Amino acid sequence: MILDKFKLDGKIAICTGTRRGIGRAMTNALAEAGADIVSFDRNDPVDTRQDVEAMDRRFVWKKIDFSTASAEQLRALVNETAAEMGQIDILVNNAGICPREEILDYSIEIWEQSLRVNLSTPWFLAQAVGRIMVKRGCGKIINIGSLLSHQGGLTVPGYSASKHGILGITKSLSNELASKGINVNAIVPGYILTDFTRAINQNEDRNTQVESRIPMNRWGSPEDLQGVVVFLASEASGYMSGTDVAVDGGWLGR
Ligand code: NAI
Repeated sequence: MILDKFKLDGKIAICTGTRRGIGRAMTNALAEAGADIVSFDRNDPVDTRQDVEAMDRRFVWKKIDFSTASAEQLRALVNETAAEMGQIDILVNNAGICPREEILDYSIEIWEQSLRVNLSTPWFLAQAVGRIMVKRGCGKIINIGSLLSHQGGLTVPGYSASKHGILGITKSLSNELASKGINVNAIVPGYILTDFTRAINQNEDRNTQVESRIPMNRWGSPEDLQGVVVFLASEASGYMSGTDVAVDGGWLGR
């Protein structure tokens, strides 16, 4: 049965940034499909915990701030998680930040923070999880990109560089891990209404510009990402690796 291939019963998924927004919706989808969840987040994901536990799945929160965590701390957290949970089947690198500044005044601090949280952290987590997955010969790594994995944007060069980089590491990891049973893919969300994008949504001029550019003429919701994350985390996507899937109401095709 094709629908059986989408089931995640008994799987352990690490998801970063699950407290709200896209991370919360994707976590709920993975749990609904059967997975137990380990959340890496700097803030207690209280609402997400409630959602997941109401589905009778396990939810473990590991407190970590990606803006300060070292590569060694990230590795240690992954190893601790694997020891506690017995295995890691799925990694979703979702947490991200998008500080803005005029390009000629764009500060070193913002540049470094953007790259650290959005690119170095996913890389170190994927490498650490990859070492564990390779031993079992299976696993799914899903990185969250952005429209700015393909475009430059305005006032966000660090974000754009990090999100282009996310596709680079998705391909690099895939090239060397796909033969070892690990699928590595990326999801590219379009304009999704969350706290992250609320300021654009509430600015009438900006909102009109955005909506009129989207072929579907509407913003996405975090729930719009649920189907694709379950697909990429499951056996149903078994022959996909090294690619990115846009969920953007048609933006990139325009
Ligand atoms: P959000 O700001 O609503 O949620 C971000 C989550 O990451 C929160 O749970 C937060 O606690 C966690 N987080 C942030 N910084 C952290 C840090 N330093 N250490 C640990 N945890 C941290 O963001 P949203 O909208 O849900 O976005 C999620 C991902 O999707 C990001 O990678 C973002 O770049 C990407 N994305 C979002 C789009 C949108 O329109 N909302 C569009 C394209 C990509």
